[in-house]
Amino acid sequence: MGKEYKFPDGFWWGSASSAPQMEGASNEDGKGMNIYDYWYAKEPERFYNKVGPDVATDFYHRYKEDIKLMKEIGHNSFRTSISWSRLIPNGVGEINEKAVDFYNNVIDEMIANGIEPFINLFHFDMPLELQKKGGWENRDVVEAYANYAKTCFELFGNKVKMWFTFNEPIVPAAEGYLYGVHYPNIVDFKRAIQVAYNTVLAQAKAIKAFRELKIKDAKIGVILNLYPIYPRSNHPADLKAAKIADLLFNRSFLDPSIKGEYPTELIELLEEYNLLPFVEKEDKELIKNNVIDILGVNYYQPKRVKAKEHLPNPHSPIMPEWFFDYYEMPGRRMNVYRGWEIYEKGIYDVLMRIKNEYGNIPCFVSENGMGVQDEERFIKNGIIQDDYRIEFIKEHLKWVHKAIEEGCNVKGYHVWTFIDNWSWINAFKNRYGLVSLDLKTLKRTIKKSGYWYKELSQNNGFVD
Ligand code: BG6
Repeated sequence: MGKEYKFPDGFWWGSASSAPQMEGASNEDGKGMNIYDYWYAKEPERFYNKVGPDVATDFYHRYKEDIKLMKEIGHNSFRTSISWSRLIPNGVGEINEKAVDFYNNVIDEMIANGIEPFINLFHFDMPLELQKKGGWENRDVVEAYANYAKTCFELFGNKVKMWFTFNEPIVPAAEGYLYGVHYPNIVDFKRAIQVAYNTVLAQAKAIKAFRELKIKDAKIGVILNLYPIYPRSNHPADLKAAKIADLLFNRSFLDPSIKGEYPTELIELLEEYNLLPFVEKEDKELIKNNVIDILGVNYYQPKRVKAKEHLPNPHSPIMPEWFFDYYEMPGRRMNVYRGWEIYEKGIYDVLMRIKNEYGNIPCFVSENGMGVQDEERFIKNGIIQDDYRIEFIKEHLKWVHKAIEEGCNVKGYHVWTFIDNWSWINAFKNRYGLVSLDLKTLKRTIKKSGYWYKELSQNNGFVD
């Protein structure tokens, strides 16, 4: 008999996904275009195997079957997002009643099956009409988001008690405006910072609207992709590299979301390089007064950094990597398909930091998971035998358990993800689901990990 890992009563077991990654029906029932629908129409070759978001997992038509499956594999909670461009096709103005019906049906179906809906308002999918107006760079879009958020609270607040302003708000800023990976494929640090700042502002405005509505028993939070950042050594230059990476990748959203203000060191760094965003005087107060109730932590991999080996080319566009180099730790373990390091203790380090430095705010693991290519090769007796995924989840949960034992306020664990879903430029390359999806027939089959997850949830823990 191994060690027993029991979790606190009422622990959330479930998974996370998002509207653009599962709904499909991207041009149905009055939905407007978002930037991914548009980008795919324009440049399909940028997406793995040229597969776009038009069908995704077809959740729009199959939500009943999927919610039943969620229940079957032990979900007591599930996060998805509302598609802004489905609900308000132009981003502002008229509400699409068919979308209201759809989200009401999904929420009702979840509740009827004992699955608490966690609803996120934005998962990278800016309505195209608003992107045309400058997207997050434009303050009118910040206002439009606050109105959209208020509309969602008014429409669904009587049933949804767990709300999230953004999933990984750093991603549209960094991947869209700094590294050129996501739409609109721009490389400009200063503009990326403006985007990041404006999303923090948008969040504060949404939280203000949320508080004013005084929705009974409801909580609002944000979901951040947080990284434990490990320096190569204790040399002051390596430590400085790690400190800057932390300011840029963690504290840029953590501090304003929880403490209501930006770290002074971050402001000084941006000032020194002429990267400060445009702000209005009243923003500071707004951000200060509108902080979150709960934090979702997405954790996949750590960042390891070292002092720069070479001076950056002074004529190149300034990047975060002007301040540090990435460090490949000898012996690190990799998920070779995704190219991400697997380091389970990282989740503990992040959670303990939230406890020690951020007032032990209630939090939960909102994403953690393993994307693997060509999983059909593991099929035996018709089921994908994904023991590696079970192992991955178990090893992370051991560290989550330790953090809880040491007083960290962790409320739950959500896997990424319920069913193999569509993912941005990688489309269906890496499969993350507890349930597999046959892309040709859209047939759903529970994987070995799905059956295991059911036991995990039923026992509120595991023995290992
Ligand atoms: C998170 C996102 O960053 O990681 C998801 O919230 C994403 O949208 C997931 O799908 C896995 O990453 P990827 O790029 O392998 O799909």
